[in-house]
Amino acid sequence: MAFPDSFLEELTARTDIVDVVSRQVELKKRGDGYWGLCPFHGEKTPSFHVLPDRQIFHCFGCAAGGGVIQFVQRSENLTFADAVLALADRAGLAVPEEGGRGEERDTIYRLNRLAAHWFHSQLSSPAGAQAREYIQGRLLAPRTVVRFGLGWAPDSWHGLLEAMRAQGFTQSDVCAAGLAVPGRRDGGAYDRFRGRLIFPIIDMRKRVIAFGGRTLGEATPKYLNSPDTPVFSKSRHLFAMPFAKNAGGQFILTEGYMDVVSLHQAGFAGAVASLGTALTASQALLMTKYAKEVVIAYDMDAAGQNAAHRAIGILEQSGIPVRVLRLAGAKDPDEYIRRHGREAFAAQLSGSPPRAEFLLSALAERFDLTNDEGRLQFCREAAELLARLDSEAERAIYLKQAAALCDIPAEALKADVARARQRLGRQKSRDASRRATAPAQALQPIDRALRYEDTRSASAEEGVIRVMFLDPSQIGEAFGLLAPEDFSSSLLGRLFAWAAAHPDDPGKAFSAQEAFAPEELSHLARIMQKPISYAESARALRDCAAAVQEMSRQRRFGQASDDALMSLRKRKRNDNEQR
Ligand code: UTP
Ligand code: MN
Repeated sequence: MAFPDSFLEELTARTDIVDVVSRQVELKKRGDGYWGLCPFHGEKTPSFHVLPDRQIFHCFGCAAGGGVIQFVQRSENLTFADAVLALADRAGLAVPEEGGRGEERDTIYRLNRLAAHWFHSQLSSPAGAQAREYIQGRLLAPRTVVRFGLGWAPDSWHGLLEAMRAQGFTQSDVCAAGLAVPGRRDGGAYDRFRGRLIFPIIDMRKRVIAFGGRTLGEATPKYLNSPDTPVFSKSRHLFAMPFAKNAGGQFILTEGYMDVVSLHQAGFAGAVASLGTALTASQALLMTKYAKEVVIAYDMDAAGQNAAHRAIGILEQSGIPVRVLRLAGAKDPDEYIRRHGREAFAAQLSGSPPRAEFLLSALAERFDLTNDEGRLQFCREAAELLARLDSEAERAIYLKQAAALCDIPAEALKADVARARQRLGRQKSRDASRRATAPAQALQPIDRALRYEDTRSASAEEGVIRVMFLDPSQIGEAFGLLAPEDFSSSLLGRLFAWAAAHPDDPGKAFSAQEAFAPEELSHLARIMQKPISYAESARALRDCAAAVQEMSRQRRFGQASDDALMSLRKRKRNDNEQR
């Protein structure tokens, strides 16, 4: 996702990095900045530095650094785009249309809307008789069909294509929208959805972004979905999200289109579905903007229950209360409502256990609690599970439940939980210190002769080089910010000078044998292997250059004080000798 620079500028202007960081790190003001314990590696003395003037952070311990977006990216484990969305939300800024291909996207939105109308109108045409029958068989009321804009894709190769051409769209427009598939030979194309009941997928701004289509019979796949297009990425959307977001904060997360449609029909307006994939972090983020709680209502088969465990893991990071619905006597919510009615479902919903209780009882089912061996194994795993609960109150409540499940005194299990928590704590700090040291070693050039003396600075220097070589439009900017002398690595300094001298095509370095040795070029190639996003290159350059400047200043300062110390010592020695 590309954001216009002007938007990113406004976002960073309206966001104070000190505010954002202090939500997670206790900061103390000292000199021109703030200091705290680095959240990205384990440490006891603060080496994490926030500079409000430049709106950047930097850790002298692990070399993490960047602007406020990078901070949110790392601390909340988000993509650049999701970090921007999260900050925009916080600042109350409307996110503009994605940049770039704006015109193409507009065309697809218009086309999708007309296609949805066309599919819907087919449903009431003579060709739609079979689909109408199917809808009745599944007990969908006419108002539900209208509310969700359900439609019918006739069983023909060019029905939609012809209809869209008649509206002035080209074949390649219809293919770009994912509604037609290019033919293999003749340069033609054919309709993607044929003989299927159509579910339009609508985004938060009420735009039609994609479609799902169910076969009425046994054709495979049962559901066919639009591919990812310039307006649709299936991992970033939830079916029925625009309805569910206004439903009061209780989300019911299901697996399927039909579950959602029949839940809404029965009055459960918080129902959404991830579109034929496991729940993703960005779908979770989408919900957490509006959710007070999420009830996972996946299918009761083994696949559905496994998916529920994974979804719990993803939602756990969001901090939203999660419960898990378990239905007896039906495979999914749609079937349950059809058989037992909406009151029965509402009762199941309100009685569904919180995440920890669900996990404990799933655990209890895995072991034979009638014999000692089984109870011991259960205790071991239950202790691990309880140790991961962050709130003490939660641990106390579920400790009791776990102890009751395997019929041992809570006190006995409590000691196990305490030990498991200690282990977990040690593990966490080991991981943190591994994270802190590993990158420094991984960063070193393979050729020992090129070894970096200052890996922290070299990491930022590499960032500058990467941007210059991968996005030469930034070379002028880089040249304005830095000089070769700012680089701690002489190789990186020379690469910088080279790029500044060859702004049209710095890649010529690879054929300039007189300028660089082969092992130097292979290191350059390694630096360039890490991807950059062109949308972020200006910002990445600014952040890296700021870090390089800062460290270069520190080195000069260190040098200066070393020199001062030396002359002081010399003077003292002279004094002594004279005495
Ligand atoms: P299910 O097979 O459980 O479908 O797939 P369902 O919702 O219960 O459908 P009905 O009741 O048989 O009509 C769950 C979801 O997984 C995705 C769809 O989003 C579906 O709703 N799916 C399933 C696919 O994308 N492709 C498939 O072939 C099957
Ligand atoms: Mn179903």
